[in-house]
Amino acid sequence: MIERTLSILKPDAVSKNHIGQIIARFEKAQLKVVGLKMQTLTPEDAKAFYRIHQNQPFFESLVSFMSSGPIVALALEGENAVSKTRSLMGATDPKKADPGTIRADFAESIDANAVHGSDSPENAAIEIPFFFRTLDLVLSSP
Ligand code: CMP
Repeated sequence: MIERTLSILKPDAVSKNHIGQIIARFEKAQLKVVGLKMQTLTPEDAKAFYRIHQNQPFFESLVSFMSSGPIVALALEGENAVSKTRSLMGATDPKKADPGTIRADFAESIDANAVHGSDSPENAAIEIPFFFRTLDLVLSSP
């Protein structure tokens, strides 16, 4: 099924010049970039985006890291885009990520883990409009 998902290239990936290499992995896997935006999140933005984690012990460090520098938000479209993006990213903790995954190759810690990807189509439908208005996205083919 053709789906859309939201990915974020996190501040570590942007500061280490890994934007192009990570997007290339998505494109090589037949995911289409249908929205792209670079911005620096305020702590309030990061808190709002990650509000489902607000009671987790890692919430404060997650918010502080995600607002520490520019990020790139991507809307990706393709066959099984949510699960495909998650398998390309690898495990949340880069030490546990399979060889050849984005996090194994580009990430250094569970906070600075290079990329985010929506964990379900339901969350993708919430996360994409957090960053993109309808007019910011490429229209789906008829
Ligand atoms: P992400 O996929 O962006 O979703 C939530 C983020 O919280 C996760 O990636 C990690 O970067 C960060 N995080 C920090 N500690 C943990 C943890 N113990 N478990 C899950 N996520 C964590």
